[in-house]
Amino acid sequence: MTRNPNRTKSAVPVSAQPRLHQRAGEIQAYGTVSHLPPLELEEAVRLEMTAQLNQLLADTMTLRDLYKKCHWQVAGPTFYQLHLLFDKHFDEQVELVDALAERVQLLGGVSLAMAADVAETTQIERPPRGREEITVQLSRLIDAHQVIIQQSRPLARRAAELGDDGTNDLVVSDVIRTNELQIWFLSEHLVDVPLVAAKERSAAAGAS
Ligand SMILES: [Fe+2]
Repeated sequence: MTRNPNRTKSAVPVSAQPRLHQRAGEIQAYGTVSHLPPLELEEAVRLEMTAQLNQLLADTMTLRDLYKKCHWQVAGPTFYQLHLLFDKHFDEQVELVDALAERVQLLGGVSLAMAADVAETTQIERPPRGREEITVQLSRLIDAHQVIIQQSRPLARRAAELGDDGTNDLVVSDVIRTNELQIWFLSEHLVDVPLVAAKERSAAAGAS
């Protein structure tokens, strides 16, 4: 019998058996950036940007989930309209989550991903597990948008200052613009206008 000279005794035999339940150390720690491709961005810049983007990511993931909670739990005569609106905004936040997470990765960082880590990181107030009325749902959503807008504006300016134009563009063109528009759509639902009959003007207001 001829032996294959390239085959050693230590070679792992080919097997159809899946190798399950594997664990090993991380290949990159959270909060670090890898030495990356020629992006012309210093490591210090990428460290600062990825840290801030991860905060924005955690808050965006929380807002995304808050939209689904509101979509499921909304009640009242405007159920159908708000049920659909909340899901539309949810879908748009899903897009932002992906863009932010992938920006962190392409800058050489490690993006936050799991709910437990997001819960520890987000600055958005935790709502109760139970259902709340529409006005409270809308107010919570607007407050959450505000948390995101508040950090996005200085982040965009800082990114421009550091020469990270891609992060600046993502935050301005996608995060800020989407959140501004969604705040408008929500806020108009909290304007107290009559549903059927116009309010009569008071005698004082009507007198000339
Ligand atoms: Fe649904």
